[in-house]
Amino acid sequence: MREYIGKNTIELTVNGEARSVSVWPSDILLDVLRNELGLTGAKPGCKNGDCGACTVIMDGLPVKSCLVLAVEAVGHSVLTVEGLKNTALQNAFVEHSAFQCGYCTSGFLMAAHALYLNHKDADELTVEEWLQSNICRCTSYSEIREALRCVFCEEKLK
Ligand code: FES
Ligand code: FES
Repeated sequence: MREYIGKNTIELTVNGEARSVSVWPSDILLDVLRNELGLTGAKPGCKNGDCGACTVIMDGLPVKSCLVLAVEAVGHSVLTVEGLKNTALQNAFVEHSAFQCGYCTSGFLMAAHALYLNHKDADELTVEEWLQSNICRCTSYSEIREALRCVFCEEKLK
């Protein structure tokens, strides 16, 4: 990675679009997405890598955007919840009421979407393990599990 000193204009690829943004080397991707690009789906929870509310997908894998510097995302493809439209996962979350306050929801959706991209035939244990990186303070876990079970079971039946 090149060295960045002072404020720099960088190019990020977010939800398939090239976005130009001015950042400090210490700016985290979460803050840049929310405050500079207006993509507020990723949420600041702990800002410490623990809660998963800030999860986005980078090159197909889930990352906690509070732990990624914006400059580290240069040259990578970033997908936020705003880039997920009408997916089976989103519909399943709605159908199963898999949220209460909704603060954690985009993080769960992104983690689950990354699992779907990488392991469409994930079994229940894999789904469970994958989602351990995300916390729901409202404890909507049974509804979230139900939504995911529905999507991954249907995938297996195809
Ligand atoms: S805000 Fe990033 S993991 Fe909690
Ligand atoms: S729905 Fe409130 S934190 Fe998960």
